[in-house]
Amino acid sequence: MTDHRPRVLSGIQPTGNIHIGNYLGAIRNWVAGQATKINFFCIVDLHALTVPRDPALLRQQTRSMAALLFACGIDPAQSILFVQSHVRAHAETTWLLNTVTPLGWLQRMTQFKDKSAKQESVLTGLLDYPVLMAMDILLYDADEVPVGDDQKQHVELTRDLAQRFNTIYEQEFFVMPEPVIPTVAARVMGLDDPLKKMSKSSDHIRGHAVPLLEDAKEIERSFKRAVTDSYNEIAFSDDPERAGVNNLLGIYQAITGKSQAEVLADFANARGYGDLKKRVAATVIDAITPIRERHAKLMTDPGELDRLLAMGAEQAAAYAEPKAQQMKEIMGLVVPS
Ligand code: AMP
Ligand code: TRP
Repeated sequence: MTDHRPRVLSGIQPTGNIHIGNYLGAIRNWVAGQATKINFFCIVDLHALTVPRDPALLRQQTRSMAALLFACGIDPAQSILFVQSHVRAHAETTWLLNTVTPLGWLQRMTQFKDKSAKQESVLTGLLDYPVLMAMDILLYDADEVPVGDDQKQHVELTRDLAQRFNTIYEQEFFVMPEPVIPTVAARVMGLDDPLKKMSKSSDHIRGHAVPLLEDAKEIERSFKRAVTDSYNEIAFSDDPERAGVNNLLGIYQAITGKSQAEVLADFANARGYGDLKKRVAATVIDAITPIRERHAKLMTDPGELDRLLAMGAEQAAAYAEPKAQQMKEIMGLVVPS
């Protein structure tokens, strides 16, 4: 292969409730980085099975997540976006990697300990989750893996497993991936509680987060109810008491790409916080309406969505399948010619 650009692999769970924090803090950066690196975006539906889920909902959320990423600007001509289960090498090689994975390494994973503590009966899939994640990364010889802080341990385990495999089979077969913890360009806080990060798992998502697929009326309502303060001064501030107004200005700044001075100039003539909220809401709505429309269009055109996903799977398989075949050969399996 002649393309020597660094390879980046991101795995995304097919969940609902993707919000403007995810967009401004993550997805938008992926879109911006498409041209300079080889990017793989894997919608990890097999991982989603590790928590019991309604099959119809999983199917819907997997397609919706794909449509949303395309709608946000992931360009199938530049990036490889695919559904994990469409490339069979992921599940197949997870078994192979399991055979070199010490049980203790998996039992030590923080996420496993947290999640399993909350359950009466712990599923094998939950324990094995990081091995599947390791193969997501190793099948593509990924150099960089952008992940949140909570997933760093899993990338480190991936390195340990790669090293162990290379040692046992005495060759430099797997590439060592680096976790890349993105420096968040924009840290968006909850509208209802500006001291808490906007999160999709909040119990009361209404009024807290601004989902990308929410309709304009609902977004206006959420902003109208946003928590502010009694200073009645539109200014950036790191005073916790003024975190609400700071967050509104920060959202406006992230969306418009303006400097703080330009942002303040835009609001110099604002009539109080009510006006500020209305104008920030309008800016957010303007920015995400095209995304919502493109998403809706793709969701009503399953043929086109399937075509894009089939293309992504085919391109991904062109990397993953030969790697899986080599892995089998190295391990002593008879590979049919
Ligand atoms: P999560 O929703 O925690 O699965 O995160 C998915 C991606 O969105 C990660 O890269 C996070 O860093 C990013 N992200 C999540 N919430 C926010 C937020 N409130 N502000 C900025 N980025 C966020
Ligand atoms: N475990 C990751 C999360 O919950 C998702 C994921 C699966 C992933 N496979 C991956 C992330 C490979 C990066 C690379 O966010």
